[in-house]
Amino acid sequence: MSKKYNIAVIPGDGIGPEITTAAIEVLEAASSRNGIEIFTKELKAGGAAIDEFGIPLPQETIEGAKESDAVLLGAVGGPKWDDVDPEIRPERALLGLRSGLDLYANIRPVVLHEGLETASPLKNPGKVDFVIVRELTGGIYFGKNGVYQSGDRLPDGTVKGKVAFDTESYSEGEINRILKIGFDLADKRRKKLTLVDKANVLISSRMWRTLATQMSFDYPDVELDFLYVDNAAMQLISRPSSFDVIVTSNIFGDILSDEAGQVVGSIGMLPSASVGMPGKPGLFEPIHGSAPDLAGQNKANPLATILSCAMMMRTMFGEEEVANSIENAVKKTLAAGLRTSDITFVGETNNITLVGTKEITQAVIDNL
Ligand code: IPM
Ligand code: MG
Repeated sequence: MSKKYNIAVIPGDGIGPEITTAAIEVLEAASSRNGIEIFTKELKAGGAAIDEFGIPLPQETIEGAKESDAVLLGAVGGPKWDDVDPEIRPERALLGLRSGLDLYANIRPVVLHEGLETASPLKNPGKVDFVIVRELTGGIYFGKNGVYQSGDRLPDGTVKGKVAFDTESYSEGEINRILKIGFDLADKRRKKLTLVDKANVLISSRMWRTLATQMSFDYPDVELDFLYVDNAAMQLISRPSSFDVIVTSNIFGDILSDEAGQVVGSIGMLPSASVGMPGKPGLFEPIHGSAPDLAGQNKANPLATILSCAMMMRTMFGEEEVANSIENAVKKTLAAGLRTSDITFVGETNNITLVGTKEITQAVIDNL
């Protein structure tokens, strides 16, 4: 074997260990068929790291991630750590990894797979195939925040008391680099870019619009349009098949991608790639969370994590063949009627087999 890739695996919490184990099995099988060796190194983050080291993101994990060729992450968080000091919540690990590795672009493809039409709550979803490009290291997630005491009163006489604040702020540089990712992607796809913002209220959104309009002159073939986020939430339901590339801020992308997951049947189907500087490791993870209620029962859907490995092979290493083989194997598995519980619906009859994490993973490997 000639090519070797070093993958840092961060299983995290809840269903994280099961789905990353499943995805690595698929990745190794698909890679070895193409003469590629996969080396993995496991790192701790989230609740698992809090339990072991008292903090969600040990230095060792950040260093290990930086030294790798790419990072695969399961999910972090769970009720067990709901009461820890907010500064060391499991989610801090994810945010720390994203900013520590400069992963400013989060690519979340939203595809309604053949056979999953009945899993979508929409009557006529049509052919849904779009990508959410979410800014990942700025905005309200990373803006100034805090709590202060105010002596003032509200107009009705109520004492204001403590005031908590978070700030949505974006620089031109931050906006331009994510817009460029959006335009480039749209240019390679169906050439439609939708900027989702709240420009009727927010100054920062107006800057996004101005910069997007300016950049659109460099992309004469890409049709740019704008949607306020509230309207976008509605349009994703009423006409999901008409979207191609959506570019948006950190928090709007977070919210809309969960909605998009439901449109295509289950959030358990959506992979993601977080990328930044060329040549630096990217982070690949399902967009769903740690689903503590499913953990350890062989019930979790590993397909989003498996599809995240396909994204890793394509975007990080240019291994188009491996990526395609993984994606095709997932398609075949679904076409054969295998479903985890999140994508099985009451009343479904036509040759659907309800299976667990292990069984669906083995089927994907058999279908490679
Ligand atoms: C996501 C998640 C994270 C986010 C949480 C776990 C911090 O919801 O990746 O979408 O808000 O970005
Ligand atoms: Mg989210």
